[in-house]
Amino acid sequence: MNFHLQQEIDWRLRVFDSLSFPTLILTPEHTIIAVNQKLQEAYGLPRDELIGKTCRDFFKTFEGNSDLPCTKNICPLDETLKDGMGHSLLRRIQHKDGSEHWEDRVFSPILNDDGEVLYVIESIRDVTRSKALEKDLQDIREFLNRVLQSSASAIVAADREGHVLLMNRAAEELFGYVFQPEEQLNISSLYPPGVAKGIMKKLRDDGYGGPGKLPVTRVNILTALGEQIPVEMTGAIIYEDGRESATMGVYNDLRERLTSEKKLLEAQSQLVQAEKMASLGRLAAGVAHEINNPLTGILLYGNLVKEKIGKDHPLQSNLDFIIEDVERCRDIVKNLLAYSRQSITSRDRFSLNDLVDESLRLIRDQKLFINVTVQKELSQARMPVNADRNNMSQVVIILVMNALDAMNKKGTLTLKTYRDDRQKKGCLEISDTGTGIPEENLSRIFDPFFTTKAPGKGTGLGLSTAYGIVKDNNGEISIKATGPQGTSFLVELPLDLDSLYVDEEMIG
Ligand SMILES: Nc1ncnc2c1ncn2[C@@H]1O[C@H](COP(=O)(O)OP(=O)(O)OP(=O)(O)O)[C@@H](O)[C@H]1O
Ligand SMILES: [Mg+2]
Repeated sequence: MNFHLQQEIDWRLRVFDSLSFPTLILTPEHTIIAVNQKLQEAYGLPRDELIGKTCRDFFKTFEGNSDLPCTKNICPLDETLKDGMGHSLLRRIQHKDGSEHWEDRVFSPILNDDGEVLYVIESIRDVTRSKALEKDLQDIREFLNRVLQSSASAIVAADREGHVLLMNRAAEELFGYVFQPEEQLNISSLYPPGVAKGIMKKLRDDGYGGPGKLPVTRVNILTALGEQIPVEMTGAIIYEDGRESATMGVYNDLRERLTSEKKLLEAQSQLVQAEKMASLGRLAAGVAHEINNPLTGILLYGNLVKEKIGKDHPLQSNLDFIIEDVERCRDIVKNLLAYSRQSITSRDRFSLNDLVDESLRLIRDQKLFINVTVQKELSQARMPVNADRNNMSQVVIILVMNALDAMNKKGTLTLKTYRDDRQKKGCLEISDTGTGIPEENLSRIFDPFFTTKAPGKGTGLGLSTAYGIVKDNNGEISIKATGPQGTSFLVELPLDLDSLYVDEEMIG
């Protein structure tokens, strides 16, 4: 052999032996014809014991019960023979002692000058470490996903073009989507028009919460069904190697909080209203008290003068006007005093049905009823209540007078009583066939001095007085219905059923 050839063979063998991966050369018949140093070291077998064996025999010796590549349908060596290309196979090796490792076997063809596969070179790489890293990564990814999915806040992330990349369960619920990454949902469709743009602008504006951050902001989001929902959101730009790669938003539904805030505001304004009514009441009481005395004087002396000058005196009619007007003033004062009445009330046990009858009898001016059909539908059930009888009677009169006014003294007035056993309440409904109450007045009719009647015809104190009395007696007064067919007021008082004393008269 010439020297150069010898030299070449020598260095080629050395290269083969110096390869850092266990490597063997196989014939197309799967027979091992060469193994490198690394393989001998790795498997602790001398070259002589390996040459001439098939790869199958060799691996069987070392791999216990694990599957061999050649027992499977796909043998990468055959594949390489077939197409003359490189192939690889990733395998998990389970050792007899229970340990395991991962191997990546790479098969490359050695071709002759005609491009036919003469031999196949197989190198075995231990990829256990990278596999373990991959698994750690997978575990971390799964853990992060669980954190994300179990968050009570809705979380959405989108790429730089605005395509939604991620939506956690809370976000799917809030926005009403079943998120599918391939559906190409755009972040702008999660907001009413223009809102997404504004958020992006603020995100990039250093003036809001620092660069790449959006501090807590109130916006409306748009659900899949087109509903707008108020939310509180924060947002951030996600950077990768200093470059903007995605954006994310965290959303909290504000509906519940806004509803309770609204209720609180309403309660506050009701309190303010109640205080206003109370101070108006004190003012009214003061004024009424002061005016009452001079009015009594005017009336007394007016009547004296009227008697003195005789019927035929030319000033007689003027005096009549004076007296009439003073009487009207006295009535107003009386109403004011009733409105501002002290809340000391005397309680009585009586039947609601009796209240209806005696209140109607108390309306002195029976002329008012000439063209009115009064219909009484009184309950057969016992309806004992414990309340201020005189004041409650005043409530019935106020409601009846209003009803007569609304009907312009023509129509049907219905007084109905019934029991609400579930709520343990006695109910009295007073209905008319009058004009009804326009929607815009509904919130004001219980306000003191609210009237739609001509000046001198009404003070607007009737319903506010009735309201105060019913409340003082632990009851409720409300408009049950109103419209062009008429109006129906409902007064509810707690039934006094627990009392041991059963008044026979109250039955029926
Ligand atoms: N049954 C009803 N049908 C239609 N409107 C009504 C009825 N009851 C009350 N209203 C409306 O509510 C307003 C307030 O009633 P309220 O009894 O407080 O005062 P008023 O009747 O106007 O004056 P007054 O102090 O003389 O009673 C009335 O002016 C009227 O517009
Ligand atoms: Mg009235």
